Amino acid sequence: MVQPCNVVVLISGSGSNLQALIDSLGEDNPARICAVISNRADAYGLTRAQNAGIATAVLDHKTFAGREAFDAALIEAIDAHQPDLVVLAGFMRILTPGFVQHYAGRLFNIHPSLLPKYKGMHTHQRALEAGDAEHGCSVHFVTEELDGGPLVVQAVVPVQPGDSAETLASRVQIGEHRIYPLAVRWFAEGRLRLTSRGVELDGTPLPASGQQIRDLPLSH
Ligand code: GAR
Repeated sequence: MVQPCNVVVLISGSGSNLQALIDSLGEDNPARICAVISNRADAYGLTRAQNAGIATAVLDHKTFAGREAFDAALIEAIDAHQPDLVVLAGFMRILTPGFVQHYAGRLFNIHPSLLPKYKGMHTHQRALEAGDAEHGCSVHFVTEELDGGPLVVQAVVPVQPGDSAETLASRVQIGEHRIYPLAVRWFAEGRLRLTSRGVELDGTPLPASGQQIRDLPLSH
């Protein structure tokens, strides 16, 4: 039998990706969410976690002397749950190199663009302004480069005539809710690893873009 995989999820907001992860849990999935930690007390994702019977904690970054002190406390709170994997799901904090190194090879992020395009903010607006025909989202291992780590999986969606940043964002979110549970499950099943050769799925290196998923529904 596959060993359970302890997952700690970090959030700052709505937690729709957290919800997709919660909805993907079950007997046949070795992933277990042992805690959800937020840097904001008003994050709706905390309610989602509580509704699912998952332990929650709030660490308000504003109450710490600086980034190093906050990240040190965050590591302590996370490691109390002995995680195999730490998942950033809309966690809107820049992490210190020490934090990233501590979780090397077991820290995921999701970003609303087809990385390496559009690192940072306002990704949907930037894709529209560039006239891109396709847009999407990416799950990647986190490294010290912001939004820059090795890619695991991308969901690709079309940009449609008349799209606004909002309509495009909601199409991309359908992709996010598909690929994050997929990546977490691959990792939990021991199929996905970050090695010196890059990201491997079932022992085979993935392309630089990660696995690409295109067969998504276009609306909720
Ligand atoms: C998601 O769209 C995620 O891609 C984005 O925050 C949102 C969180 O939504 N993350 C980033 O922009 C990280 N650079 P959620 O709270 O509903 O899951």
